[in-house]
Amino acid sequence: MFVVQQVAMKKEKILVIGASGQIGVELTLALRKIYGGSNVVASDLREENELLKGTGPYVSLDVMNKEMLHVQVIRQNITQIYLLAAILSATGEKNPPLAWHLNTQSLLNVLDIAKEEKLTKVYWPSSIAVFGPTSPKENCPQQTIIEPSTVYGISKYAGEFWCNYYHHRYGVDVRSLRYPGLISYKSSPGGGTTDYAVEIYLEAKEKNKYTCYLEAPTRLPMMYMPDAIRATIELMEAPAQNISVRTSYNLASMSFSPAEITASIQKQLPSFEISYKPDSRQQIANSWPQSIDDTKARKDWGWKHEFDLDKMTVDMLQNI
Ligand code: NAD
Ligand code: SER
Repeated sequence: MFVVQQVAMKKEKILVIGASGQIGVELTLALRKIYGGSNVVASDLREENELLKGTGPYVSLDVMNKEMLHVQVIRQNITQIYLLAAILSATGEKNPPLAWHLNTQSLLNVLDIAKEEKLTKVYWPSSIAVFGPTSPKENCPQQTIIEPSTVYGISKYAGEFWCNYYHHRYGVDVRSLRYPGLISYKSSPGGGTTDYAVEIYLEAKEKNKYTCYLEAPTRLPMMYMPDAIRATIELMEAPAQNISVRTSYNLASMSFSPAEITASIQKQLPSFEISYKPDSRQQIANSWPQSIDDTKARKDWGWKHEFDLDKMTVDMLQNI
C-alpha cells in the first residue's frame, strides 16, 4: 500500500497560486517535503517569498489571466492546483467590486482549466466568513442559516457552490475547508479581521504592549498554522469516497478573545499590556460565529487538531 502511494505521489505536479502569502509559503514548503521540491511550482503576483527561495521552481503569475494560467498548466504538466490567491475580509470592504472579481473569477478560471485538462485534484479554501449575523454563534453547524454580510463572505459562499457545481456536473475533484483565523510566524497575514492574533505576538515580543482593534470579549474561531497545513494535506490525501462535503468543510481547533489571548501571553510574559481601540473590523468580527462545529471533517477524513491556545502561545513566542 505504502509503495503504491509513493509511486502515485511521484506522478503529481502541483501548482500553488498565491504561494507568497500567509498560507502559501508554509503550504508550499510542506508540499515540497512530500512531493519533492521540483514537483511543486510556486506562483504569485508578488515576488518569491525569501523562505521559498532555493526550495523549488517559482513563476510569476496573475491568476486572472486565464490564458497565461492555462499555458503554465500545460507547459509545466500540472496535475493539481492549490488556489490561495484572494482578497481577505478587511481589505475586501475597502474595494468590494475588486474583492468579488478576484475571489470568484480566479476560482472559475482554475475550475475551468481543471475540467479541460482533467486535473486530478484542486484545493480552494473558504472561510468562517461565509457565516453571518443570523448564523448560530456557538458551535455553528456545517449546514445552517448562511447570510454573509461582507463581500469576502459572499464571494466565499458563492465559490463553495461553484466547487460543488464543478464536482457534480463535470467530475472535478475540488476540495475545500472553511478555515478559521490563522496564526503563524513565518509569513505575514494579508488583510483579514483575525490578523490581530498574529500582530499581538509580534508586538508582545518587540514592545511588550499592543493596541487591539477588536474589543476585549470578541471571541472568534482560530487555528495555529501547523494544524491548518496538516488539515489541508489530510483532506487532499483522503480517498475521494470519504469526501461527503463538496462545498466546504467546517474546520475548528480553538476559539478565543483578545482578553483570553492576552491572558495566555501573560503566562509567558507577565508584564505584557493590552489596550483597545476598536475600528471597522469590529463589525465584521461581530457578524461571525464564536465557535464552529467540525464534526463532519472529524468523521469523514479523521480531522483532529493538535494545538490549543496555550500550546500555540508557547510555540509562537519561541519562534518569532
Ligand atoms: P494572503 O493575502 O496572505 O495571500 C494571498 C496571496 O495571493 C498573496 O501573496 C498575493 O500576492 C497573491 N495574489 C493576489 N492576487 C493574485 C493574482 N491575481 N494572481 C496571483 N496571486 C495573487 O492570504 P492567505 O491568508 O494566505 O489566504 C489564502 C487563502 O486562504 C485565501 O483564499 C483566503 O481567503 C483563505 N483563508 C485565509 C485565512 C487566514 O486566516 N489567513 C482564513 C480563512 C481563509
Ligand atoms: N482570517 C480571515 C479574515 O479575517 C478569515 O477568512 O479575513
